[in-house]
Amino acid sequence: MRLFIAIELSPTLRGALTELQAALRREEVRGRYTPPENLHLTLAFLGELPEAEPVLEAMETVDFAPFPLRLEGVGCFGDLFWAGVTESEALAACARRLRRALAEAGIPYDRKRFSPHITLLRRAVFRRPPEAVPPPAEMLVTRLTLMRSDRGRRDMIYTPLGSVPARED
Ligand code: 2AM
Repeated sequence: MRLFIAIELSPTLRGALTELQAALRREEVRGRYTPPENLHLTLAFLGELPEAEPVLEAMETVDFAPFPLRLEGVGCFGDLFWAGVTESEALAACARRLRRALAEAGIPYDRKRFSPHITLLRRAVFRRPPEAVPPPAEMLVTRLTLMRSDRGRRDMIYTPLGSVPARED
């Protein structure tokens, strides 16, 4: 199964991103828009693995306190159009610790540099650069989730397999 570890977004963030997608549509940005239920922020992409349990065990060892996640800006990787988040040492440290835990457990993952983003649409086509930006929105990250990704009829289907909580203090 194809696995990745992500931050699931709160209803507030999903709502703000759905509004942003609507604004992009009004600006005639075309492409394959991510359905609201699929919006997420990936911390590590693992790819095909036979089992989830060892991954969840490695995730359990990641120590992080709850931290805020705030939408900010948009950008593109080629024709993939994304929303960004405010630069955050807490987020970077969380991704770093998670990746270290995976490496120590011998679990392979994509070692590309962590560039936090939330994919809004793929195969984006527009005549002029859109002006829409995310409405102000913020959430508290309190858990990391192992997700399974399956190809659906139209969109990907993401299924949460388990989560690990932030430290409580
Ligand atoms: P993307 O949205 O920028 O494509 C599930 O595919 C999640 O893992 C997506 O958030 C995807 O990011 C991310 N991801 C990171 N590296 C990936 C890779 N090498 N292949 C597929 N997805 C990857």
